Amino acid sequence: MRKIFKTIWLRVQQSYRSVSLRFKIAFLVVVLLTSTSFVLSVVTVQIMNNYILNEIIKRGESVGKSIAASAGYNLLSKDLLALDNLVYKAKAANSDMLYVAVLDPDMKTIVHSAAEMIGETQPVSRGRLFREAADGTLVTELTNASGSIFEILCPVVFMNKPLGSVVIGMDKSILVEAQNKVSSMVLLVFGTIAVLGIFVSSLLASFLIRPIRALSAGVEELKHGKAQSPLKVYSQDELGRLTRRFNEMTALITTQRGELTRYARDLEEAYVSMVKVVAAAIDARDSYTHGHSARVARLSLSMGRQLGLPEAELRELEVACLLHDVGKIKTPDVILLKAAKLNQEEFREMMHHVEHGASILSWAPSLSKYIPSTRHHHEWHNGQGYPDGLAGEDIPLFAAIISIADAYDAMTSDRPYRKAIFKEEALRRIERMAGTQFRPELVAVFKDVLAAERDRTAPLAAAGAAG
Ligand SMILES: [Fe+2]
Repeated sequence: MRKIFKTIWLRVQQSYRSVSLRFKIAFLVVVLLTSTSFVLSVVTVQIMNNYILNEIIKRGESVGKSIAASAGYNLLSKDLLALDNLVYKAKAANSDMLYVAVLDPDMKTIVHSAAEMIGETQPVSRGRLFREAADGTLVTELTNASGSIFEILCPVVFMNKPLGSVVIGMDKSILVEAQNKVSSMVLLVFGTIAVLGIFVSSLLASFLIRPIRALSAGVEELKHGKAQSPLKVYSQDELGRLTRRFNEMTALITTQRGELTRYARDLEEAYVSMVKVVAAAIDARDSYTHGHSARVARLSLSMGRQLGLPEAELRELEVACLLHDVGKIKTPDVILLKAAKLNQEEFREMMHHVEHGASILSWAPSLSKYIPSTRHHHEWHNGQGYPDGLAGEDIPLFAAIISIADAYDAMTSDRPYRKAIFKEEALRRIERMAGTQFRPELVAVFKDVLAAERDRTAPLAAAGAAG
């Protein structure tokens, strides 16, 4: 059982955490209002019931005492006709009186509104004593098969001599009817208050939540760096002060963010410039490869744009191109600057430039993202490349792009041991290697890039020739 209660309590807590603040406020107000209405209804009904009961009994006592006052002389003079008249008039004037009777000191019925009861002797104590007054008036509650009755017994005293008593039976069902009417009315009033309370609490919750929602939306906008106007201040209370502080904080953060963006841009420009200097320094070791990295970057960027890469990736691609041969800084001059074709051992040493490059870039955490393109730009699409023999889509995209631009620039540049070949021939060789050395779809992109470049430069070349 305890486990079940614990589970239910946990569920309630989870639900409470997930519902909105507006619901919580409305729920709290409704619970307070309905519980207060309920308690007030119960208390009011109880007070009204007691009041009605007292009124009925007081009226019965008043009528009984009035009859008792008049009956004294009639009893003494044994004027039964006058007593009968008194009883008849009292019964006729009060519809809620079930019976009216006059008893002698031995509790024998002398006069009764129901004639068949005359001569009957009433037991001294029957039913529950409800009230006893100082003058001897007794109120008892009788219960029989037909319901409850309040019986009021008023002593008849004349000249300090007890002559008997007047007994009045009040119908309790009248009281129940009155109580029901009062209860219905009270419940209707408090029910209306509760319904109005729900409506008002909902409006109140909306009113309270409005600035909080605006603040929440403001925080969301601030988180995503969207430019925004200051939030509206709805009040001068704590929420209003919080909104004003938030507006001040937003203005400060927006200003600082702008400055940071400017610093970051300056830093990036300085960083790219530095990388260009490093790339130029590497290329400068060999007069034949002068400007190689910059040309590879230009061709690769054209391919990247053709592929629809976003601006941030294009910036990374440019730096990746400039750094792709950074490992050659460790390649000995006798190999790098050799005016003849490399032998097997020298070529093996040359191949290590990709690993040297990856190692150099690993020294700076900000450059580590360029390690894959540097390490794998000599991998082949069919897995026959180096250093890891990666194939197909396992070769990083930047590395696959650089490998085509790198090969094209090498073929179209002079080398100490051979002359440059024509661009068309270089493209044909690259196309022949599509699917073996190069990724086929990138070769197609590269072909489009060269065609677009040719279209752009052809009119200028024609104009130059004409001039
Ligand atoms: Fe290389």
